[in-house]
Amino acid sequence: MPILEVKNMCRSFGGLKAVDEVSFSVESGQIKAIIGPNGAGKTTLFNLIAGSIRPDRGAVIFKGADIYALPPHKIAEKGIMRTFQNIKLFPHLTVMENILVGHHRKMRAGFLHAAFPFPRTYREEKDAFEKAAHIAKSLGLEKHLAIETENLDFGSQRIVELARALAGEPEMLLLDEPAAGLNIHETLQLSEAIQKIKETGITILLIEHDMSLVMDISDEIVVLSYGKKIAEGLPAEIQRNPEVIAVYLGNDNA
Ligand SMILES: Nc1ncnc2c1ncn2[C@@H]1O[C@H](COP(=O)(O)OP(=O)(O)OP(=O)(O)O)[C@@H](O)[C@H]1O
Ligand SMILES: [Mg+2]
Repeated sequence: MPILEVKNMCRSFGGLKAVDEVSFSVESGQIKAIIGPNGAGKTTLFNLIAGSIRPDRGAVIFKGADIYALPPHKIAEKGIMRTFQNIKLFPHLTVMENILVGHHRKMRAGFLHAAFPFPRTYREEKDAFEKAAHIAKSLGLEKHLAIETENLDFGSQRIVELARALAGEPEMLLLDEPAAGLNIHETLQLSEAIQKIKETGITILLIEHDMSLVMDISDEIVVLSYGKKIAEGLPAEIQRNPEVIAVYLGNDNA
């Protein structure tokens, strides 16, 4: 049984069909990439899966249960965490504090706690710190724990975002263009971090324009163009698909 099924997803903005009858499934433990030119509907698809916008039609099934009607924090509680196309860290908080915010999201979703996002009992605090430190170490961030994230290089900020999402103990991660703005060295570090996360059994849905990263680490790829799925398959199949080459790999995004 797939961990996630997206079925006939549709969402328009005015007259624009941003996501148009998109269906695909994601097997547990795999990295599945969503690619396509700018404006193809990739981020909208993530917003639909994560519950931040509602579909006009269609369903999202996570571990056999329909989640499309749930609010975003309930979907996060069920085990789907995300990172954003534009980094959304708290710039004046340290790396450790930013990771703890992710932990809090799992433990205490809700408005009041969001205003004071830290664990409250000593035991909880100790566990949360230990877990955050463990995640940071696994992603090579241990030296940066006390640094405010605004003082980190861009690549490390992307890794902190990953760490924060992991602190919520997800079963599935949605990563929206994690390599955007990274140099080659930073992209390599990110690639290693994503593959380490996969090794822990977490399923990953990855939107990315960096084709070498996508081709290196994805198990399967879905291609969107103008809201529609135009191809799905193994990286090698996608690379030689004439329609994909025409709409995507042949244009400026490649
Ligand atoms: N809230 C919104 N209101 C109106 N139009 C929107 C909204 N969100 C997205 N769109 C439009 O829907 C289309 C798909 O946008 P989306 O952000 O999903 O594309 P994308 O594939 O993520 O592109 P990119 O690679 O540039 O991030 C675009 O034409 C966009 O302008
Ligand atoms: Mg996008």
